[in-house]
Amino acid sequence: MARSQNQAPFPAYRPRRLRAHPSLREMVRENTLAPGDLIWPVFVMDGQDDAHPIHSMPGVFRHTVDRLPVLAARARSLGIPAICIFPYTNPRLKTQTCAEAWNPDNLTNRAIRAIKAAVPDIMVMTDIALDPYNINGQDGIVRGGEILNDETVEALVKMGEVQVQAGADILGPSDMMDGRIAALRAMLEKNKFHNINILSYSAKYASGFYGPFRDAVGASGALIGDKKTYQMDPANSDEAMRMIARDLREGADMVMIKPGMPYLDICLRAKTEFQVPTFAYQVSGEYAMLKAADQNGWLNGQQVMLESLMAFKRAGCDGILTYFAPEVAELITP
Ligand code: PBG
Repeated sequence: MARSQNQAPFPAYRPRRLRAHPSLREMVRENTLAPGDLIWPVFVMDGQDDAHPIHSMPGVFRHTVDRLPVLAARARSLGIPAICIFPYTNPRLKTQTCAEAWNPDNLTNRAIRAIKAAVPDIMVMTDIALDPYNINGQDGIVRGGEILNDETVEALVKMGEVQVQAGADILGPSDMMDGRIAALRAMLEKNKFHNINILSYSAKYASGFYGPFRDAVGASGALIGDKKTYQMDPANSDEAMRMIARDLREGADMVMIKPGMPYLDICLRAKTEFQVPTFAYQVSGEYAMLKAADQNGWLNGQQVMLESLMAFKRAGCDGILTYFAPEVAELITP
């Protein structure tokens, strides 16, 4: 039924009536944004009591592990339910085999332990991909110019296992290899980690919007070539649905679309077709664009931050990974 048929003609129907007062607008608001919708990505580095700014991401820092408990406690008190950890790995530890990825004492695992010991109630999510540990910056093991799928999946399983042993609650495979969700789920079941969630980066596109992130984790200089043989073509939408269906069949609990703002059509389609917990990653480049325009006085930073995050809710997302998490939570916490 055409919706316009439900409405009286003007002047009986004056849509502006519903917009005439702030309290009325609040009454008829269709979506809400709350701190509970946010996952905060945090960059960690070696060292002591230190933080380094990431120039292409104003307001974002890499933090040493000993600072994480305070940050996590603050996030939790703002109502943020989860933190996602990304390591800035010492270049000397990057190799062809990526063995540092499954070192039980690597930066990520030390960060997980520090956070869970101090703030057990915050969910710790990890990133599963080899790029922070890979001498060539690729997410998978490279041999003869090829990114090897099955060997990479074996490495990712070892990586996930040590993360869970360190206390991770949610595994976030961001590598886009085939078969990784089934392999990770089998590892979790075998070890009786029945309650560990997998939030799969199911629809991850080969995007230019990851640029500042690669600076943040020190992978930009390292990356040789591009990621187009495993990350998705931005032209595709049906393929994203196939990836989500596949990951759910293999044992993913939640799915992600990444990047976020340019892919809201994919978010809405995913939520409509699958009705599963659906997340979007408002990636580094999206954050950088908004911050840069704000700093130039070209946009109202606070307004576009709120508007961009609400757009994800409107598009059907249950939550958003965003570098704005603490800043926006501060603003919207009741
Ligand atoms: C690693 C990974 C990337 C991001 C999250 N995990 C970069 C990439 O795939 O090159 C990007 C996040 C962001 O840009 O904020 N596989």
